[in-house]
Amino acid sequence: MPTPHRTKEICRAVRLKSTQVFIVAGTILITVLVTLVCIGLTTRYEVENEVANVADVDYWKDRVSAVQKVWYDKGIAELNEALRKPRGPLFPKNVLIFMVQGVGGGDLAAYRFPVISGNSQGNTNFLWDTFSHVARLKNSCSQQSPCQVGSVSRALWSGIPLDVSLGGESDCWIADNQTDNFLSVVRQAQLAGLRTGFVTDQRITGTTGAALYGNSKYECDERMPVGSIQMGCQDIARQLISGETGKSLNVIMGGGRQMLNSLVPKTKWDLVDELLCESGDGRNLLKEWRSQKLRHSKIEPIKFEVVQRTDELESLNATSFDYLMGVFANGDLSGNPRAPSLTLMVEKSLKVLKRNKQGYFLLVEHFIKSGMDKRMQLELLNETLSNLQSEEDTLTLVLVTNAIYPKPSLDVSEETETISHLSEFFGEDEIEIQRRLYQMPTDSLVFAKGPKSSLFYGVQKETFLAHSLAYVLSRSKDG
Ligand SMILES: *[C@@H]1O[C@H](CO)[C@@H](O)[C@H](O)[C@H]1NC(C)=O
Ligand SMILES: *[C@@H]1O[C@H](CO)[C@@H](O)[C@H](O)[C@H]1NC(C)=O
Ligand SMILES: *[C@@H]1O[C@H](CO)[C@@H](O)[C@H](O)[C@H]1NC(C)=O
Repeated sequence: MPTPHRTKEICRAVRLKSTQVFIVAGTILITVLVTLVCIGLTTRYEVENEVANVADVDYWKDRVSAVQKVWYDKGIAELNEALRKPRGPLFPKNVLIFMVQGVGGGDLAAYRFPVISGNSQGNTNFLWDTFSHVARLKNSCSQQSPCQVGSVSRALWSGIPLDVSLGGESDCWIADNQTDNFLSVVRQAQLAGLRTGFVTDQRITGTTGAALYGNSKYECDERMPVGSIQMGCQDIARQLISGETGKSLNVIMGGGRQMLNSLVPKTKWDLVDELLCESGDGRNLLKEWRSQKLRHSKIEPIKFEVVQRTDELESLNATSFDYLMGVFANGDLSGNPRAPSLTLMVEKSLKVLKRNKQGYFLLVEHFIKSGMDKRMQLELLNETLSNLQSEEDTLTLVLVTNAIYPKPSLDVSEETETISHLSEFFGEDEIEIQRRLYQMPTDSLVFAKGPKSSLFYGVQKETFLAHSLAYVLSRSKDG
C-alpha cells in the first residue's frame, strides 16, 4: 500500500505528464486549424476571383467562330452584370413599392416589343426587367374557389390567407382600436419609425387602402347598415381619418372625394361616379383631417396641406411638408381628365417623404382598367420609374397583378366541387371548361432590387409579400 506521501508524488508526476500531452496535442490542433484556415482562405480567394473576373474566364474563345464570339462577348457582359455584388447596406432604409393592377405576364411579354413600323428594333426591357430578383405569387382565386377583392388586398398587405374567413358575418371588429386591428405593412413601417405614404390612381378608400388602414367592408356610409353604425363600426373613409394608421400617414393621394365628403363639386370633367359609394351623412372628412392636423400643430410644429387640383400640387414646395393629403377626383382618377399624372404624384410624395435621417415606405398603386391602352400605361409607368433617382439603400418592388378575381356566386359552399364535376356544375361541355381554365388568372410577379431583394424568389403564396416585408421592416429601424 503506498503511503499518502507516495500517492501525492505519483499524482504530481502524472499531472506533469498530462500537461505535456496537452501541449503536444494543442500544438497539433493549432497546426491543423491554421492549415484549414489557409486552405479556406485560398479557396475563397479563388472563388471570389472567379466571380469577379468572368470576362477573363476562358469560354473556349478560341473554339467559337467570330460571328458567335460577338454574341458570347455580349452575353458574358450581361452575365458580369448579374454577378456584380450588390452594394449598399444589408437592410434597406427605404421601401418603395409599385403595384400595377390589370396586366398579366402575357401583357408584359407582348408590350416589351416597341411599335416601330418597318425596321424592327427587337424587344427592349421595361425597367423592372433589369431588377436583380423576381418571384411569382400564386393566384389562389379561381372558378372553384372565388374570392373577394378585399381578401386579396388583405392577403397582400396584411398577410392573412385568402381562405381564412374573418369575423363571420359581422361588419366590423370594433374599429378604431389598433390593438385589435391587423398590422398592415404600412402600420409596421410606421412602428419602425419610417415616414409613410400611399398613392393611388383609384380611390384612397379602395380595397388597397382598406387593407392598409381599415377593416371595413364599406367604402363610405351609404350602404352601411344602421345597426353596424350604431355598434360603432366605421366605414373605410372614416377609418382613414380617425384610425392610427391613417392619421400617421405622411402622404395620401388619389381619388375618392365623394366618399370623404357628402357635398362635392360636380363639374363636367369630374362627375360623381354613380356606381361607387356616395356619402350622405353630411360629413366633410377633408375638413376634419385639416382640423386634426391643426390641433397636432399646436403640440409640435408640423406643416400640412390638403390639395385638390393639379396646379396646386404642381406649385407645392413639397420638401417642407410633413403631411400631405391630395384628393383629385370624386371617384377614380381615371374619371377626371384634369387629375394629376402618376409621375407628378410620385415625385411630390417622395419629396415629402425623403429625409436624411429617416427612412420611408411608399406604396404606389396604378390601376389599369380593362378599357385602357395597356401599352401606353406600362410605358408611362416605365417612364415614372426611370425618372426616379436610383438609391442604393432602397428596396424597390414592382408588383404586377392582373386583378382578375372571380367573385363568389350566391352560394359559395356549392363551389368547392372538384374539376371533374365542373361540367355538371356549370352545365358546360368539356371545351368550354378547358377555355375557362385557360382563362384562369396568371400568377402575379414581384420584381425586386436593392437590399434584401434576394428574399423574392421562386413561386410563393399571396401572403409571402406581407411576411417578407414584415421581416425587412422589423430591421429597417436599425440601419
Ligand atoms: C423603359 O425605360 C428605359 C429607360 O428610360 C428605356 O430604355 C426602355 O426602352 C423603356 N422600355 C420600354 C419597353 O418602353
Ligand atoms: C382597445 O382595446 C383595449 C384592449 O381590449 C382596451 O383596453 C381599450 O380601451 C380599447 N380602446 C378603445 C379606444 O376602444
Ligand atoms: C422649399 O422649402 C425648403 C425647406 O423649407 C426651402 O429650403 C426651399 O428654399 C424651398 N424651395 C422653394 C423653391 O421655395
